[in-house]
Amino acid sequence: MVRNRNTESLHQVLQGPSPNIYPTGSTQQASPAKARLSLISRHLEKPGLALNTPFSREKASLIGLASIPAGPTFSKADMMSIQVNHPTLLIPGPVEFDDEVLQSMAHYRWVNQFSESRQYTDAHQRHQIESHVGPSFVSAFGEALSMLRKLFITSDPTSQPFVVSGSGTLGWDFVASNLVERGDDVLVLHSGYFGDSFADCFQIYGINTTQLKAPIGSRPQLPEIEQALKEKNYAAITITHVDTSTGVLSDVKAVSELVHRVSPDTLVIVDGVCSVGSEEIRFDEWKLDVVLTASQKAIGVPAGLCILMVSGRAIDRFNGRKTLPSSYFASFKNWLPIMKNYEAKKPSYFATPSPQLIRALHTSLSQILSVPLEERFTIHKLTSQKVKRAITDLGLKQLAERPENQANSMTAIYLPEDVKAPELLPNLFKRGIVFAGGLHKQIATKYIRFGHMGVSVTDPSRNDIDKAIEALKDSLADIGYQQKQ
Ligand SMILES: Cc1ncc(COP(=O)(O)O)c(C=O)c1O
Repeated sequence: MVRNRNTESLHQVLQGPSPNIYPTGSTQQASPAKARLSLISRHLEKPGLALNTPFSREKASLIGLASIPAGPTFSKADMMSIQVNHPTLLIPGPVEFDDEVLQSMAHYRWVNQFSESRQYTDAHQRHQIESHVGPSFVSAFGEALSMLRKLFITSDPTSQPFVVSGSGTLGWDFVASNLVERGDDVLVLHSGYFGDSFADCFQIYGINTTQLKAPIGSRPQLPEIEQALKEKNYAAITITHVDTSTGVLSDVKAVSELVHRVSPDTLVIVDGVCSVGSEEIRFDEWKLDVVLTASQKAIGVPAGLCILMVSGRAIDRFNGRKTLPSSYFASFKNWLPIMKNYEAKKPSYFATPSPQLIRALHTSLSQILSVPLEERFTIHKLTSQKVKRAITDLGLKQLAERPENQANSMTAIYLPEDVKAPELLPNLFKRGIVFAGGLHKQIATKYIRFGHMGVSVTDPSRNDIDKAIEALKDSLADIGYQQKQ
């Protein structure tokens, strides 16, 4: 139902601006809107036309409007949640969200979201009056920060969690504008699209980057990393824990050990946007300096929060800067006292946080931490193995061929020669499953991505993963794929 509404509004967009928008005869206003419309309709007229991203072209997930099939129909019996029935989102983030997490964003309405009566009283209302500096919100924010310490497995009091409105990309800006200075060198380990874009971010701040690039589906190997570290004094090294464009997993623990042995002054920065909450990360034990992430993947909160854990050593590096941080919004100078205050439950303000998203984060972290993290890592691993086995049984290959390179949060799957993503993705959609197209610029049209993280994995009653595997089998058969014997 929701999809149809979207389709209708897209149709309206394609038909052009409503005649009421501009005065009759006015030509002057029509052009920017027309330009935008033509941009949109170009994609729609030519299914598969590239959606430009700075480092690649995501083609396969773009389907012409005309080819968007009718969505699946659901009966009331299918409804297992308070959410409107919808195709299951199994892209590598954003993911499906838990009801309670979503409901906590409506915190103002109900003090107890699951109370029988769903009514609020005056007393509740008074209790609920919270601003972004009010005691109940500050307390929830403080607890969320403390819970992040548990999620990242750090008990070192010098490490510092940050939660700031923004997305994962803001985490790159935090690193580039606070922990390195113009003219510094950074070694970027590249296992896909997100290495290129992190390197691009550093360059904006005048940082020199060297990228160690692995063949598609692989990751830079320890001997070459060691050699690179011996060639230059790197202020920092970055590792994409899971590159979402390739589904390649990096061995963060081994790389960090190597860096501490060979180049101990180099800060170890981990892009954990597609790994935090699904892959094992031990902040203290692995001696990491930054793990940056975002809310919308395995942490299971709608997009809009940038989350970082920063080591005491990195904070010292920041405090010893010769120059001012090169960003205002993303300045540790501005955010550090705020985060410390929130965690100490003291109201504080630098820029307005999102109370709704912080509430959702609080709920999601409470849920995540209600089960031992080991179990969470294990269920993601087992689910990933199940998906990968099914892919192999179907005669399909993954971008990451070697098991040690394979992420547990997602799988990037090469399409059989005769199968095109603009055919397969709508067919899956028809069956109630949403996968993503390719993102790596060299092979974008040749593969699809299946995200398996968060509630789709941890809540077996949803049956999301099995449904997706079945749908993939059926869709492939439907479009004529025959497995080679
Ligand atoms: C590995 C990785 N790094 C960084 C980002 C950028 O995060 P965001 O899109 O939340 O800004 C993404 C986004 O998917 C990602 O997968």
